[in-house]
Amino acid sequence: MTSVLVTGGAGYIGSHTCMALAANGMTPIVFDNLFRGHADFVRWGPLIVGDILDQAALNDTFARYRPDAVIHFAALAYVGESFSNPMTYYKNNVSGLVNIIEAMVKNGTQNIILSSSCTIYGIPDTVPIPENAPQRPISPYGRSKLFCEQILKDAAASNDLNFVIFRYFNASGADASGDLSERHDPETHLVPLAIDAATNEGPALPIFGSDYATTDGTCERDFIHVSDLASAHVEAISYLSKNANIALNLGTGRAHSVLQVVSAVERVTGRPVPLTWGPRRPGDPPILFSDPTLAQRLLRFRPKYSDLETIIETAWRSRRGQG
Ligand code: UFG
Repeated sequence: MTSVLVTGGAGYIGSHTCMALAANGMTPIVFDNLFRGHADFVRWGPLIVGDILDQAALNDTFARYRPDAVIHFAALAYVGESFSNPMTYYKNNVSGLVNIIEAMVKNGTQNIILSSSCTIYGIPDTVPIPENAPQRPISPYGRSKLFCEQILKDAAASNDLNFVIFRYFNASGADASGDLSERHDPETHLVPLAIDAATNEGPALPIFGSDYATTDGTCERDFIHVSDLASAHVEAISYLSKNANIALNLGTGRAHSVLQVVSAVERVTGRPVPLTWGPRRPGDPPILFSDPTLAQRLLRFRPKYSDLETIIETAWRSRRGQG
């Protein structure tokens, strides 16, 4: 049986991935400081409450569980917050990864999947974005992820490490059975905020910018269902030991505007989404969507839940605590 150390496994993408690992016969060992994660999301293996900045705690965990692979989700991941606290982002995201790599090398774990992000591309020259597009992040968060990619490549070149780097586009939706949900504090993401606005559980949805050169003036994003992201990690575990190191986009190859998401929320919930119109948000590129062909070819990546209706339906169901 494969055991996988999942840092950040109590978080949104991490918990969905643990569920998928367990469904495929693997044991997830979650290492999470619970700063933004939730202990009740950890149900498929042990939870070690620890911080990736604590090298001793990491070493103890590796020595105790001897994982076959690491999936490293633990990171700060708010673009806006990264502008006000850049050093916290670099310390946590960059130093945290260095600690994990050192613990892997010390304890003989060779395989790692690293969570990266489409934010490393910054404002792309063209869309869809292939993996070899220029990497010019426009936020401290994006730069921290790009540094992480580069550090992992350097580490793999000088140690016996295998890696898959995943560049997520916009993770959204929730487990279709309703067992897990998207629960961020603070919540800053479009889909849950639009649902909360429609159901009067939150304020009117602010639209950040209406003057982009896009189909309707609002930003366009590539929304990928969190359960599809989780499945890609399962595929990557078997890919890792047999193949060359690689960085892959995980997206659908389609874009939806903020207003198209709002319309989908209105269709699915049957309620209007009250809106307010505001200025552009710093760090938001106008259009991001992936060229997903490499992940399709190498990992047989075929999103099953990532049409907009299913994303909104599953997000809505989990927000109502049903399913
Ligand atoms: N948006 C609004 N109003 C809101 C919230 C969001 O108009 O209240 C807009 C944003 O301006 C953006 C789009 O909706 O254009 C999506 O915003 P999200 O905050 O949902 O997602 P982001 O694209 O900013 O960021 C997310 C993750 C990052 C990841 C990034 C990759 O939070 O960690 O996707 O695109 F890097």
